[in-house]
Amino acid sequence: MRIAVLQERAAGETRVAATPETVRKFVALGATVAVERGAGEAAAVNDAAFEEAGAELGSAAEVVKGADIVLAVQAPEPAALAGASGGAWVAATFNPFAEKDRVAAYAAAGLEALAMEFMPRITRAQSMDVLSSQSNLAGYKAVLAAAGEYGRVFPMMMTAAGTVAAARVFVMGVGVAGLQAIATARRLGAQVSATDVRSATKEQILSLGAKPIFVESVAGIEGEGSGGYATEMSEEYQKAQAELVSSHIAKQDIVITTALIPGRAAPRLISDAQIATMKPGSVIFDLAVAQGGNVEHSVADEIVERHGVKIMGYSNTPAHLAADASALFARNLYNFLSAFWDKEQGRPVLDEEIGDAVRLTKGGKIVNERIGQ
Ligand code: NAI
Repeated sequence: MRIAVLQERAAGETRVAATPETVRKFVALGATVAVERGAGEAAAVNDAAFEEAGAELGSAAEVVKGADIVLAVQAPEPAALAGASGGAWVAATFNPFAEKDRVAAYAAAGLEALAMEFMPRITRAQSMDVLSSQSNLAGYKAVLAAAGEYGRVFPMMMTAAGTVAAARVFVMGVGVAGLQAIATARRLGAQVSATDVRSATKEQILSLGAKPIFVESVAGIEGEGSGGYATEMSEEYQKAQAELVSSHIAKQDIVITTALIPGRAAPRLISDAQIATMKPGSVIFDLAVAQGGNVEHSVADEIVERHGVKIMGYSNTPAHLAADASALFARNLYNFLSAFWDKEQGRPVLDEEIGDAVRLTKGGKIVNERIGQ
């Protein structure tokens, strides 16, 4: 069983899909792990550390040659995997709804694409879920990045020169990233409020010491929603939400938006007219910018100024925390493959519930019902 880890090729990608810790664990399971030279450099993991953990180092072609499983953060182009074993698995993020051509190319190449973002949201898969591990870090980083651009402080400060008021932070979308954003802003001493369409998040907001701001006139999504995911809301709800946001946002200093709907563009939550009501010097961090953005005018990796408000967002937020993001991503992959390790065969054998959920291609075909044939 040969596992290959390549250097990420996507622009701005600093993460790596294995760490010395996970290499050691795969080797202990009986696998050979081959890592491309320099693969961990941007994530503060040097080649010597990989080698010490038991990895073989080589060029991309050497590493891939005969590989049964390829691990990646972002799925490589299938052409880069030409030397892998027939039917090799590739466990990575595929962005399957947006990158349909790449999925088709994986099928054509006879590779078995395992999309980590399709991990089902069930208890036993929590430790394998890259969306959770990366969103958590993204929520943290969004608050710090916004704080860095904010010309004022977060905590209330009583100084000899007078008192400085605490910043008001509003978090829109309280999934994994939003919860961490609330916790981080609270730790920095801000006054925090938050909103979501799923009613189950109200309790979670309160438990973190923040104030829930919810649409009450139109029903939102009961409880957790399906698998923790939101759906597109009715026009009536969107209107009520826009009114609620308009009255709240004018008093906020920092807004962090995180709202996503799987397979669709991110919902628009903040309009230009609403930005115009905010105080000059306020900062909005749009964590959904790479999926179309929650905020009018947001542009990935730029700071756009409108009405004196700074609007920002990164195309790849976890890549700004490369070392920790890699450590957690790599553990997710190890937890996934090791949970299914068949000692006799010396390789993982996936079950239906998780295997069928994450598998995009097999035997030359697209086999995942979420993306169609
Ligand atoms: P996500 O990244 O898909 O969306 C972020 C948040 O935006 C969600 O809370 C969603 O309800 C919210 N949202 C969507 N449209 C909105 C709108 N128009 N206005 C305001 N908010 C909007 O969600 P994420 O963070 O991946 O997970 C959501 C939940 O799923 C978690 O809180 C957790 O309960 C559950 N989950 C369970 C897992 C497991 O059991 N293995 C793993 C990951 C998440």
